[in-house]
Amino acid sequence: MLLLYLTPTELVQSTFDLHVFHPISDSPLRTGFLAVAQIPIVFLFATKNSILSLLLGPGNGYEKLNYIHRMSGRLMFLSACIHGSLWIRNHLQYGLPIIGQQKETSGVATLAVLGIIVLTSLRPVRRLFYQVFFVVHVLTFVAFFVTVRYHTLYAAPWIFPALAFFGADAFLRFLRYRIKDAKLSAPDQLMTLVHIQDCDDGWLAGQHVQLRVFFSNRAFESHPFTILSGPPNRSCFNQSGMILAARVNGDWTRELNAYAHNEQDPSVCISEKQSGGERSCVPIHVMIDGPYGGSSVDLGQYETVLLVAGGSGATFTLGLLDDIVFRCIKAGRRHGERTRRIEFVWYIRSFGHIAWFAEMLTEIAILAAGTSLDIHFSIFVTCLCDPEAVPFIPNSDVKLDRPPVYTLLCETTGLSRPCSFESAEAEEDKPFSAAQPHAGGGVAVCASGPERSGQSKRGMRSRGWVSGTL
Ligand SMILES: Cc1cc2nc3c(=O)[nH]c(=O)nc-3n(C[C@H](O)[C@H](O)[C@H](O)COP(=O)(O)OP(=O)(O)OC[C@H]3O[C@@H](n4cnc5c(N)ncnc54)[C@H](O)[C@@H]3O)c2cc1C
Ligand SMILES: NC(=O)c1ccc[n+]([C@@H]2O[C@H](COP(=O)([O-])OP(=O)(O)OC[C@H]3O[C@@H](n4cnc5c(N)ncnc54)[C@H](OP(=O)(O)O)[C@@H]3O)[C@@H](O)[C@H]2O)c1
Repeated sequence: MLLLYLTPTELVQSTFDLHVFHPISDSPLRTGFLAVAQIPIVFLFATKNSILSLLLGPGNGYEKLNYIHRMSGRLMFLSACIHGSLWIRNHLQYGLPIIGQQKETSGVATLAVLGIIVLTSLRPVRRLFYQVFFVVHVLTFVAFFVTVRYHTLYAAPWIFPALAFFGADAFLRFLRYRIKDAKLSAPDQLMTLVHIQDCDDGWLAGQHVQLRVFFSNRAFESHPFTILSGPPNRSCFNQSGMILAARVNGDWTRELNAYAHNEQDPSVCISEKQSGGERSCVPIHVMIDGPYGGSSVDLGQYETVLLVAGGSGATFTLGLLDDIVFRCIKAGRRHGERTRRIEFVWYIRSFGHIAWFAEMLTEIAILAAGTSLDIHFSIFVTCLCDPEAVPFIPNSDVKLDRPPVYTLLCETTGLSRPCSFESAEAEEDKPFSAAQPHAGGGVAVCASGPERSGQSKRGMRSRGWVSGTL
């Protein structure tokens, strides 16, 4: 009973004082407190504008820290399960009813709500039914606060910080919301470009925004999209404003693409010159929130840069490419940028996908020609689809192949170890730091691409969709 009179700090100390803790003979209260003590941590790492992200700076956005939210949420559920089981055991031992009294009923309700939160947040549910996950998550966290508050008075000190984090996030998001005019254009049935002209600063290469598009009945949904260029005054591209590229993935992106195709009206909107042809666009209103995230690697500090992307992941690497090329060529290496060689690798599913960003890649290739920066584009097409659709991009190779990322790293850095397909497969499981050291100048690797179901986190890491340096 003493635990009831402890302050939150003392509770945390006593909770982690595990050497004296025995789950059966000790009071079930301790695991209950361990559960409620997770509430502020869960909320700190759930919010998009977390204080930690703001303190840690670009490259440490909510999406990178979100795993701590998931882990502490699962720890909360585990502690609550142990807490509940021990209480049930006590009640059974003394012949007391498990449901009936307010304390017991609200306890069971809290545990049930936590169970729903954990189950509906599992990766397959998020992957397949993201909107369902989101709505259930919001409703159940409110229900959790209500039930846990009924269950114990001692939850309050842990709920208030969580509400403060949530309120601060909501306030900051409110301040950062912008409603803008934009133009939609669709190069094909799988890609939609969103061009927000009246947006000329305030983000860094590689950052993303939450985008809400006011079309059909989709105004209540927002989705993250990476800005594929630097701000206009720090970009190599001729287009002004902010450009986002939304690949058709599920309902929302498919409907956006169909809208961009169906609503085209050349008389209303000025056509844009893209990939050597005229393309109509659709005027629309969008709401953006952000920017968030970004890259924690400063490419300018490395002599060799390997940018690897799969599919629409190229929005991230294209933004980084635009930034480093601008700094090295247009800004004249003002901050001592050391980058000499850039290998831009892009895996795509069809030759036709090259057209998505061909215009931008060409602009960069032309700008870099004959300068101190050696840029090469390797485009690997993993399906023999649409083979005629290969636009010309200077200094590029387009191959029907899917080499492992490790092989590309060997080739880019000129490592002496033979990089056969077999050895590369075996070596892929080693972290980059285990590779032979590069001749000098450093190598930065930035990657972005799909996580396939059935591939473990470790598998994805070893296969290279992760940024790092040598
Ligand atoms: C940081 C980040 C940057 C991204 N940048 C781009 C980009 O530049 N270009 C691009 O084409 N795609 C990008 N994506 C992916 C894009 O957000 C999803 O493809 C899009 O949200 C799918 O929505 P949907 O309704 O069409 O598909 P759904 O069927 O709803 O979802 C398909 C997949 O997208 C994920 N997803 C859906 N909604 C969201 C959401 N609101 N937040 C996070 N994930 C969601 C789901 O987990 C699921 O795996 C990015 C994703 C993240 C996390
Ligand atoms: N964080 C960001 O900034 C950001 C930005 C944009 C997009 N994204 C994410 O990137 C993903 C892009 O998906 P998408 O649907 O656009 O891609 P997609 O069209 O499916 O293309 C992916 C390509 O990458 C290849 N590939 C997959 N895994 C590979 C590996 N381990 N090694 C080599 N090649 C591999 C695929 O080959 P196969 O055909 O053989 O599978 C395919 O050619 C989405 O999940 C999106 O969320 C993130």
